[in-house]
Amino acid sequence: MEIMRLTITKLSLLLPVLLFLSISWRARATSVSVHENFIQCLLSHSQPSHPISPAIFTPQNSSFSSVLQAQIRNLRFNSTSTPKPFLIITALHESHIQAAIICARKHGLQMKIRSGGHDYEGLSYVSHVPFFVLDMFNLHSVDVDVETETAWVQTGATLGEVYYRISEKSKTHGFPAGVCPTVGVGGHIGGGGYGNMMRKYGLTVDNIVDAKLVDVSGRLLDRKSMGEDLFWAIRGGGGASFGVVLAYRIKLVRVPETVTVFQVRKTLEQNATEIVYRWQQVASKQLPDDLFVRLILDVVNGTKSGTKTVRASFLSLFLGDSNRLLSIMNESFPELGLAQSDCIETSWIRSVLFWTNFQIDDPLNILLNRTPPTLTFLKRKSDYVKQPIPKKGLEFIWKRMIELETPQMIFNPYGGKMAEIPSTATPFPHRAGNLWKIQYVTNWNEPGTDAANRYLNLTRKLYGYMTPFVSKNPRQAFFNYRDIDLGINHNGKASFEEAKAYGIKYFLGNFNRLVKIKTKVDPGNFFRNEQSIPVLPH
Ligand SMILES: Cc1cc2nc3c(=O)[nH]c(=O)nc-3n(C[C@H](O)[C@H](O)[C@H](O)COP(=O)(O)OP(=O)(O)OC[C@H]3O[C@@H](n4cnc5c(N)ncnc54)[C@H](O)[C@@H]3O)c2cc1C
Ligand SMILES: *[C@@H]1O[C@H](CO)[C@@H](O)[C@H](O)[C@H]1NC(C)=O
Ligand SMILES: *[C@@H]1O[C@H](CO)[C@@H](O)[C@H](O)[C@H]1NC(C)=O
Ligand SMILES: *[C@@H]1O[C@H](CO)[C@@H](O)[C@H](O)[C@H]1NC(C)=O
Ligand SMILES: *[C@@H]1O[C@H](CO)[C@@H](O)[C@H](O)[C@H]1NC(C)=O
Ligand SMILES: *[C@@H]1O[C@H](CO)[C@@H](O)[C@H](O)[C@H]1NC(C)=O
Ligand SMILES: *[C@@H]1O[C@H](CO)[C@@H](O)[C@H](O)[C@H]1NC(C)=O
Repeated sequence: MEIMRLTITKLSLLLPVLLFLSISWRARATSVSVHENFIQCLLSHSQPSHPISPAIFTPQNSSFSSVLQAQIRNLRFNSTSTPKPFLIITALHESHIQAAIICARKHGLQMKIRSGGHDYEGLSYVSHVPFFVLDMFNLHSVDVDVETETAWVQTGATLGEVYYRISEKSKTHGFPAGVCPTVGVGGHIGGGGYGNMMRKYGLTVDNIVDAKLVDVSGRLLDRKSMGEDLFWAIRGGGGASFGVVLAYRIKLVRVPETVTVFQVRKTLEQNATEIVYRWQQVASKQLPDDLFVRLILDVVNGTKSGTKTVRASFLSLFLGDSNRLLSIMNESFPELGLAQSDCIETSWIRSVLFWTNFQIDDPLNILLNRTPPTLTFLKRKSDYVKQPIPKKGLEFIWKRMIELETPQMIFNPYGGKMAEIPSTATPFPHRAGNLWKIQYVTNWNEPGTDAANRYLNLTRKLYGYMTPFVSKNPRQAFFNYRDIDLGINHNGKASFEEAKAYGIKYFLGNFNRLVKIKTKVDPGNFFRNEQSIPVLPH
């Protein structure tokens, strides 16, 4: 009797386990065969002149992990608990992109597209459903044509490569894109893209004249064959909702042979409050379009031991020589006290080095390096400011910053060309009426979820303290500063309202047009991720 009861109890305990084992074994077997069928499909679509097998990596291939890790730019998503793809396709030819799309649709698989891997939330290489990565890094040609002042740039190229190839051909051309040279062209241009020439030439997407895209049917389209709606969408609406962008044709811009850069730093004890207050009045309104003065705010040790202070760093690019710069600053922004000794005259391409963590006289081919010198764990958020912050407000912010110590804030002034381009010209809507954009920057080096939660918390706290000073209803955000706190579209299957939550913050009124285009070009929602454009509910 006793034995009997024990056996039954044991059995009833074991039964669910057995059941679970058999189900999970079957699920595994199914997914293994789906994956094998998917690979078979890829191979069968492979052109003899462009075999796809050298581009296929499964976890069984010894270099799978290094290929995956090679474009991870946020260590939060390099942990053992980060979900991994079951396969990576490192496309070597456009036919590999076409095969990936056709076969993924046939087998109902989720595809992630990765170019430079700089997505702040890792959306190009992480998913919580089974997925594979279409990795574009091999497709990185940059063909510069100085005659027409344009270049065809494949999306796997980095911004550093683009700048370097332009400078090989011309000393008087540049391109208005991001500051960090390892950022990928694919995500950067698809998501908007800005840099330190934005007041003169607008965003990266304001300087695009053509594109090549593989659509949901596997067709290779250019601007003419995709039509103006789709061409509009992939200049700021995020390529990943609409197709795989293979290349953009960019319009080069003119830069003088000599530009001037400077960085001047002031702590609270050196009148930072006064100077920041004044920066708000001039940086986006009074200064000429040729002059971009970024303001970086962080917390550093004070001169007395044990004290903290806020430091304001003014980092600048001026498209001209130092004499003209000094006279402009003397007239419009004397509070900064810019001196000739602060100014460095250099070429545009070397100004790119100055603005990153390189030395201004480093060899230029350092710009071809895809891997940043250091990687950290990170979180970013963004905001837009429409009214100068009163001095009392600044003092409140300093207090909170010192209390938290992290994050830093970067203020990027708008105005100039940014205020002239209509907010409907591209999906990026934050044009006239915005004085500057805030980027919240939190980097840390301690691994683990405790540290991550602590730093995420600090970032959200400062974002909370900034509420009175930033845009409202909705609180606007920059799409390329991906921030999952704004809303999440699980596997592209969130309700329309949930997707609208982040969509309106990133795109304001342009969200509706993006949704219409999405519904037309990808009604089955194949191209999706955690913050993609949803299809219209029927
Ligand atoms: C260190 C650093 C510095 C930065 N500096 C700037 C800056 O100065 N200015 C600025 O505007 N932004 C900046 N950013 C943000 C950056 O522009 C975005 O993260 C951008 O999306 C990165 O592009 P990527 O190709 O490297 O990223 P990925 O992670 O590869 O892609 C980002 C998104 O685009 C999609 N995507 C990528 N390639 C394609 C493609 N070929 N077709 C369709 N969809 C694609 C991905 O699926 C993903 O959703 C910076 C980011 C980092 C990490
Ligand atoms: C990965 O392994 C498979 C099976 O051994 C092989 O066919 C394929 O070519 C490998 N991929 C690469 C990129 O070497
Ligand atoms: C990413 O993780 C792998 C595996 O744990 C590790 O070997 C690698 O060094 C990590 N990358 C960085 C840049 O820390
Ligand atoms: C700060 O500004 C005041 C006047 O506004 C000036 O007298 C003082 O010298 C300044 N201090 C520094 C360190 O520049
Ligand atoms: C700041 O001060 C603390 C001690 O208060 C010290 O541990 C730290 O190294 C200092 N940081 C810098 C950058 O000097
Ligand atoms: C700055 O302007 C003042 C007058 O406003 C003038 O006296 C002075 O010479 C100027 N300095 C420079 C360096 O231009
Ligand atoms: C985050 O902040 C909240 C309150 O703002 C607090 O309750 C929570 O414990 C914090 N979490 C961490 C990991 O610091």
